Amino acid sequence: MNVATLQVAWTYDTKDAFEGSEMQSNPVVIDGVLYAMSPKQRAFALDAATGQELWSFDPTGGNFTGPRIRYRGVVVHDGRVYFNYRYRLFALDAKTGQQATGWGNDSGWVDLRSGLGRPEQGLSVSASTPGAVYKDMLIVGTSVPEALPSAPGDIRAYDVKTGALRWSFHTIPHPGEFGHDTWPAEAWKVAGGANAWSGVTVDQQRGMVFFATGSASFDFYGANRLGDNLFANSIVALDANTGKRVWHFQGLKHDLWDRDFPAAPTLVTVTREGKPVDAVAQITKTGHVWLLDRSTGAELFPSEWRRMPPAILDGDVTADSQRFPLLPKPFARQQLTEDMLTERTPEAHASALRIFRENPTPDPWTPPNTEGIIIFPGVDGGGEYGGPAFDPKTGVLYVNSNEMGWILKIVPREETSLFGAYCAECHGATSTPIAPTLNGVATRLTREQLTTAIRDGTGRMPAFATALGDSSIAELTEYLISGKQPTRPPKSVPTFLKYRNTTFDIFLDHEGYPAIKPPWGTLNALDLNTGETKWSIPFGEYPQLVLQGLKDTGSDNYGGAIVTENGLLIIAATTYDNKIRAYDKSIGTLLWEGVLPAAGNTTPSTYMVNGKQYIVIACGGGKNGAPSGGMYVAFALP
Ligand code: HEC
Repeated sequence: MNVATLQVAWTYDTKDAFEGSEMQSNPVVIDGVLYAMSPKQRAFALDAATGQELWSFDPTGGNFTGPRIRYRGVVVHDGRVYFNYRYRLFALDAKTGQQATGWGNDSGWVDLRSGLGRPEQGLSVSASTPGAVYKDMLIVGTSVPEALPSAPGDIRAYDVKTGALRWSFHTIPHPGEFGHDTWPAEAWKVAGGANAWSGVTVDQQRGMVFFATGSASFDFYGANRLGDNLFANSIVALDANTGKRVWHFQGLKHDLWDRDFPAAPTLVTVTREGKPVDAVAQITKTGHVWLLDRSTGAELFPSEWRRMPPAILDGDVTADSQRFPLLPKPFARQQLTEDMLTERTPEAHASALRIFRENPTPDPWTPPNTEGIIIFPGVDGGGEYGGPAFDPKTGVLYVNSNEMGWILKIVPREETSLFGAYCAECHGATSTPIAPTLNGVATRLTREQLTTAIRDGTGRMPAFATALGDSSIAELTEYLISGKQPTRPPKSVPTFLKYRNTTFDIFLDHEGYPAIKPPWGTLNALDLNTGETKWSIPFGEYPQLVLQGLKDTGSDNYGGAIVTENGLLIIAATTYDNKIRAYDKSIGTLLWEGVLPAAGNTTPSTYMVNGKQYIVIACGGGKNGAPSGGMYVAFALP
């Protein structure tokens, strides 16, 4: 492909962008039809050669009330399109976009909250990444709140025809199951998380399914989940027919830093002693790659155990050591020191230094505490949800990486105000990366919608139906509408913890640029045969800084790359320059770039129709304060 002459072939405007919205769909193209989703979680089909809409299905029936939802695409299988809206898992007829007959409950959907062994009303369960099909089963992971009350991250297989549950795997083991003793005895009833929000990977030939989990909830304080917390922060292989565990590999014990595995495992084949070995490669938020034998889970590169600092907060206990891979070398810097602070301007340096000293982090694994720490690489990686791209021809794994510090500060939980006790950790005064601001929410949502939001939760927001009860929920609703503080102190609820986070945000200077020296984002090529880093380049720019002559700084970036047989690495992902780029995959030189209407914070797709090759990307923006967008843009050669 003569990549330098790529031009826009068509665009499709979902018209669904709104302030703060994101659109992370990685389109599926089959037989000339493209299937994807809009920022309001409408599923649609387009003619992949022209961008003409063929059908669209709105799971809210036109009543989308926000807020932002993250969803990364659909599954298309055997004439059906599967996707979920909040806790509802839908199946559509791929030709018409109508709800498939015989699927789910009377309303035609499967409730992701059921079958978890807990009352549905108290659970917030959704899925930000579509599942994968094995034989006649749709296998899915879920998103659950990272604070309490949460839900367990069970992996489930549903019958593709009916939606009946065929098997589940308990990521928080029940009594008698392997790993139950890595938690307090009763945790399986109340703990949450250990979920595969980044999806699952199926090896069709072996009949195995692989997934990688996030931390246990609450992310930053684990006094109620003492122990290693299997299968949190783990790569797990199951028999796809039965859901039984084949092997597991825990990357981090008793996580207190939100170090979720941020992407599903990638199936790779590497060369060892001249022979091909099937493996899975797993990227981490800390900038590492685990390479494990696909059949056994054995490590294919050396690793070492390192001693860890003790817990600081009352009642918590950290793991005394953690395991780190020695190869490949990390694709992100590992420890933030004073000499790494920004020198963009003297003022920027001064503001960075002040914050750095206010949040002392002598060890990259300093546990969370009430003084504050800087997590680096940050909570959004290192690696992120775009995941890596693997070139089977050369054994090279391509990974884009963020290099941002994140500030985390913990405070004792107030027991005197309902809002302070249950809501403030996420909904502080202003919008944070974890949750939208609630200022003015009552002008957008009715009393009933507010009550539903609190009762049912969604995404990272817990469902408070069980924990709080109707009268407290009514008082909180009233508070959001009129500002009238509830008069009664909250009743004490046993699942609630002594501490909550207060600050949880990216470490920026006084003008909103990263407070560390560049690169702020990188693109890396790692040889999985040798462990060697083949190349690593700054990735992304800030247009305002480029105007001031500061180029090639890298920027935060979300969304993965695709690698082609004819030598290209194609990726958008960069948050502020809205570009899509094509590189020479062997040496990392830039061959082409196009400008998008908003950041393409997802992985592009490439496909052929009538002998013509296209590259398409969802331009959703909305990350870390960047403008939101709702367009899909397809490129092709003229
Ligand atoms: C663990 C974090 C967390 C906690 C605790 C939390 N929320 Fe939320 N809340 C969220 C997130 C995140 C969203 C947006 C949904 C999403 O992005 O998945 C949200 C959305 C909402 C919305 C809808 C806002 C809109 O713009 O439509 C309301 C109302 C709300 N929360 C109220 C509350 C109240 C009241 C409490 C306390 C009882 C609370 N939340 C506790 C994270 C949280």
